[in-house]
Amino acid sequence: MIKANTHVYGVIGDPIEHSLSPALQNWLFKQFDLNAVYTAFQVHPQNLKEAVQAMSALNLKGLNVTLPHKAAVVEYCDKRSGDVDCLGVANTLSRESSGVSASVTDPQGFIESLGQMRTQFKDAEVCVLGAGGAARSILFALATLETGPVWVYNRTREKAEHLIRESKQAFGLSRARTLSESELNAAIESCRMVINTTSVGMYPQTDASPVRDDAPFSDQHFVYDLIYNPVTTRLLQIAEQKGAHTRNGLDMLIFQGLESLRIWTHADLRLSISQLNECRTLLKEQLYE
Ligand code: ATR
Repeated sequence: MIKANTHVYGVIGDPIEHSLSPALQNWLFKQFDLNAVYTAFQVHPQNLKEAVQAMSALNLKGLNVTLPHKAAVVEYCDKRSGDVDCLGVANTLSRESSGVSASVTDPQGFIESLGQMRTQFKDAEVCVLGAGGAARSILFALATLETGPVWVYNRTREKAEHLIRESKQAFGLSRARTLSESELNAAIESCRMVINTTSVGMYPQTDASPVRDDAPFSDQHFVYDLIYNPVTTRLLQIAEQKGAHTRNGLDMLIFQGLESLRIWTHADLRLSISQLNECRTLLKEQLYE
């Protein structure tokens, strides 16, 4: 029950009405028996600084930050984690005695979503589709996982080259190269994991895929699509038809949210498999509501 001493959290973004974070975090609060409530705040870019300042004024315990504020919010925070310095974005703000502290939980969310499998990717070749903000977080996670060579394919190749240069400088990504479209299938063949970070295939363009239908997937591949709407994208359909193991973006969403909650509560919170399944079901219901 919400009472006067209930802690208030939220997500800021613009637009925000389709965010799954309120459903996710309120469910997590319930699982961990926290006296807390989480809501969504639509914040226009010109009001971003005031929104961060409002954390102190209104005694908000924590905020998540989503598009379009993830980069701009950093300068309004008093402290930044090392990961925020590396990536230049934040998705989690927590109010501490010393001021507002910024963290980014996307790379940890990706790593944790791999579960027990994560050790299998040490030294493995990986192909990343896309070169935007999501790709940057994934490259950071891959550097942490110490994977083998990383191939980055992007519609605009110069952006992929730029991202790789920056990632080498910011967090020591090594052995990364860009690909031309004609080289993509050969790279996929030699990779253990393929990760889509583009928006290609996202609702409502659900017929689109970032790879061709003849992509050489097999049962040796793990294909991860960061998209969760739809939960089975055209890319995942193509991969599954060829026997590949697949994952959609729901688990990364869940684990980045859990990591935010750990930061806010300073508690080592864990989900059981049955809780994870329950959470996936809840979020799918929200998506198709
Ligand atoms: P995010 O923060 O989600 O990564 P972003 O920074 O806007 O979003 O990046 C979107 C990515 O999806 C980019 O790699 C973009 O390719 P370009 O750099 O060529 O723009 C990719 N993308 C978006 N729409 C695409 C499309 N129709 N075909 C191919 N790639 C697309």
